[in-house]
Amino acid sequence: MSNEIDTTSSDNAEQGSVKSAALIARETKRRRTFGIISHPDAGKTTLTEKLLLFSGAIQMAGTVKARKSGRHATSDWMEIEKQRGISVASSVMQFDFRDHIINLLDTPGHQDFSEDTYRVLTAVDSALMVIDAAKGVEAQTIKLLDVCRMRNTPIVTFMNKLDRECRDPLELLDEVESVLKIQCAPVTWPIGMGKNFRGVYHLLNDEILLFRAGDESANQDVEVIKGIDNPRLQEMFPMEMDQLRMEVELVHGASHPFNLEDFLAGVQTPVFFGSAINNFGVREILSALVDWAPAPRGRDASVRVVEPTEEPFTGFVFKIQANMDPAHRDRIAFLRVCSGRFERGMKVKHLRLGREVKVSSVVTFMASSREQVEEAYAGDIIGLPNHGNMQIGDSFSEGEMLTFTGIPYFAPDFFRQVRIRNPLKIKQLHKGLQQLGEEGAVQVFKPVSGGELVLGAVGVLQFEVVASRLMNEYGVDAVFESTSISTARWVSSDDKKALSDFENALSANVAYDAAGNLAYLATSGVNLRLTQERWPKLQFHATREHA
Ligand code: G4P
Repeated sequence: MSNEIDTTSSDNAEQGSVKSAALIARETKRRRTFGIISHPDAGKTTLTEKLLLFSGAIQMAGTVKARKSGRHATSDWMEIEKQRGISVASSVMQFDFRDHIINLLDTPGHQDFSEDTYRVLTAVDSALMVIDAAKGVEAQTIKLLDVCRMRNTPIVTFMNKLDRECRDPLELLDEVESVLKIQCAPVTWPIGMGKNFRGVYHLLNDEILLFRAGDESANQDVEVIKGIDNPRLQEMFPMEMDQLRMEVELVHGASHPFNLEDFLAGVQTPVFFGSAINNFGVREILSALVDWAPAPRGRDASVRVVEPTEEPFTGFVFKIQANMDPAHRDRIAFLRVCSGRFERGMKVKHLRLGREVKVSSVVTFMASSREQVEEAYAGDIIGLPNHGNMQIGDSFSEGEMLTFTGIPYFAPDFFRQVRIRNPLKIKQLHKGLQQLGEEGAVQVFKPVSGGELVLGAVGVLQFEVVASRLMNEYGVDAVFESTSISTARWVSSDDKKALSDFENALSANVAYDAAGNLAYLATSGVNLRLTQERWPKLQFHATREHA
């Protein structure tokens, strides 16, 4: 009798497991998680808004924009703090499109530019690169693309602002190829620009999408004319069609045809032309993300690759947003789910601390608000409230010991020496900087020669944030002073003697970071290059993994 019962229950368990595996596979397959990379003012905010409008996630234009202007009306961190609810809500936007779940991760720009911007890109499966077609490739885009390249993240390119006078489209493609070292495969091609912008020719579908300025509704219909030789086109645009045919011939001859495998390998980018503000070209971008961009893929961990469809839940923290409630020093850790199914109330293991955590209060991020999450799958981002015990790079699982890799610290571009007015507060300063460092708010370097601590950041607002938080949370009045340091590299070598010789010879410019890694603080690019040449047995790294 008891045997019978056992068999039934094990059969049930098996069936349940098969069902759950099928559910996980189905849900994983329909997820797309991406970030937008662009230089400030290329149109990221506008495009984000149009993507949300298009999917029906927001009803009204102006919502995202209002957040942005609110955030940038002031550089005063306390003011930014007041709006933190908003900025958290807009950090991750989840919406549906054609039966897919799209997670759009905000990559903070402008004054908010920080290491978070880089790290967000380690949590996405693809990226959308927005380029202002009047300006071409700009500095911040180059840096962000370098980060994408670390994991060969597939990139979709949107050439924006065709309703204005722009640079020659062929020249733009040339620039992307030569500066960003990625093959371009134009998918749409512009017909005219500025006042004479008529629309785009879809090279793969052989159809022309007619441009109509204005109307910001989600369901704006685009008129489509089939076939480049359609006589209607000749009637409508007698001036432009000859030019278009010539250009298309050139494009077919000179550029790469779209190849899905090359796109997925990160070596080729499909290129679309349009105008975000006019909601033109946005549908094609969304379709490219759904049709071509990858669903979550396997992710490297210390012991093995974790596949997204594995049943046990795993994930890692890539960002920490502090001070949700300053009175409680609350923080939200942003966790990317890497495999399995997350369910509210389940117990997961915080692997660095070896501790089980019951996660009952978790937030997900819908486009319009923060909501309680009931379940999440690979590619989704969930927010775990915590009191400062989680760090960037922390891995979670249902018990298996593994550490996800590829969530690095990045060499800072800005440096400050930190000094305190009241020497009695030195302990608090160190404690504060240690915690802020672990959170990823700033990097802390301790010079070997014993001088003052050096802080490093990739965006200058990080220093304001740190100063304000040191004061408010740790009662430390710190003064930040400029230094002659312009860049840093982590240094390693198998040759221990070479390392210690280096440390002794250049002690004024050598420091240890918060995790005890040796770093060289260079005064200029030339200085760095010369040092590298003089110390050939050492390796200099622009990133380092979390400890
Ligand atoms: P960002 O988030 O990348 O920094 O860029 P954002 O969307 O804020 O766009 C920067 C400026 O470019 C904005 O103008 C925006 O309206 C404009 N813009 C975006 N897409 C297009 C487009 O397709 N065509 C044209 N002509 N302009 C575009 P602004 O004057 O700075 O702000 P606003 O006064 O329009 O809000």
